[in-house]
Amino acid sequence: MKKIIITGGAGFIGSHVVRRFVKNYPEYSIINLDKLTYAGNLANLRDIENAANYRFVKGDIVDMAFINQLFADEKPDAVIHLAAESHVDRSITNPSEFVMTNVVGTVNLLNAARDTWKSNYTDKRFYHVSTDEVYGTLGGDGMFTEETAYDPHSPYSASKASSDHFVRAYYDTYGLNTVISNCSNNYGSFHFPEKLIPLAIHNIKQKKAVPVYGKGENIRDWLWVEDHARAIDLIFHKAATGTTYNIGGHNEWKNIDLINALCTIMDKKLGRRDGESAQLITFVTDRAGHDLRYAIDATKLQKELGWVPSITFEEGLEKTVDWYLANEEWLTDVTSGHYQQYYTEQYNHR
Ligand code: NAD
Ligand code: TYD
Repeated sequence: MKKIIITGGAGFIGSHVVRRFVKNYPEYSIINLDKLTYAGNLANLRDIENAANYRFVKGDIVDMAFINQLFADEKPDAVIHLAAESHVDRSITNPSEFVMTNVVGTVNLLNAARDTWKSNYTDKRFYHVSTDEVYGTLGGDGMFTEETAYDPHSPYSASKASSDHFVRAYYDTYGLNTVISNCSNNYGSFHFPEKLIPLAIHNIKQKKAVPVYGKGENIRDWLWVEDHARAIDLIFHKAATGTTYNIGGHNEWKNIDLINALCTIMDKKLGRRDGESAQLITFVTDRAGHDLRYAIDATKLQKELGWVPSITFEEGLEKTVDWYLANEEWLTDVTSGHYQQYYTEQYNHR
């Protein structure tokens, strides 16, 4: 039985990856290792928490002694590493935490994997999940390919770029069996409402101002989270050692156009008159160092492994809005307590 440690499995993308692996691979043993920060939530995994091939372990990847002991006890065959501090705005307020989790935490895992597997790397795999933000920003045209030079601008993307470099260094130096994927912006269910799409859905629902940074001209390339999880599954099983794949849906949207589209969907779903929700759009002070445009060229993934997105953005956005409207309790739970304080600090001065 293959034993896989998935880190950050209680977060947004991690929970979709854990669910997919637990359901699709009953012959694997899945350990979800997560610190349960503000972004981690075991309610994201209620439907599989009692599965025979699933276990949750609470722990911090920054705690080297804990990580070494866990690897010594469990002797995993593979790691799929998603645990991270993931929000750019928080990285601007508190960069050090991003260095600790994203860089030091990743190196702790790499060391533990190297030491546990050193007698034979062949059947082992360290899969590092990363972001397109490591490539920096694009102008009006062009796309990020796997060959694009790293040029991160935010403390978040700088910490992810650093962790990617360490993963490659462990392949080059120790021969560790590594793979990396760099994905564009995800959206879907269980997305914490500090990121644009769930925050806008939450605010529109509550008839609160929908904050759009700057003029709303920045462009992001959106991918449905379950398509990301499917790509991770494919890359984990099929990619050659030491390779990198970009993941993205060829789906670029200007923030303001995206928010207007969301408002139109929400007007219909909530029985509001046409244009009512769009009146909530409020332009606020721009994010410092705000990357203008991200766009992923996922040709390599398509050509080599046959992956293409399974649904259109229109379908995905509608599914996502439906999920948030049907899961009021989840949204109320995650937006109570600390969230209120975060929201006040983040938005009251903009
Ligand atoms: P998230 O913030 O929703 O979840 C992160 C998870 O990591 C949480 O469950 C949290 O509790 C856990 N965690 C944080 N610090 C930890 C620590 N020190 N030890 C153990 N666990 C810890 O993030 P997400 O959006 O699901 O992103 C997951 C991964 O995918 C990240 O590595 C991120 O960089 C990458 N990524 C995200 C996106 C996106 O659009 N969200 C796009 C591309 C890549
Ligand atoms: P976000 O969801 O934070 O993802 P990222 O910064 O990693 O791309 O932001 C997506 C885009 O939306 C980005 O250009 C910043 C913008 N944005 C807003 O305009 N308002 C908001 O309240 C947030 C959170 C983001």
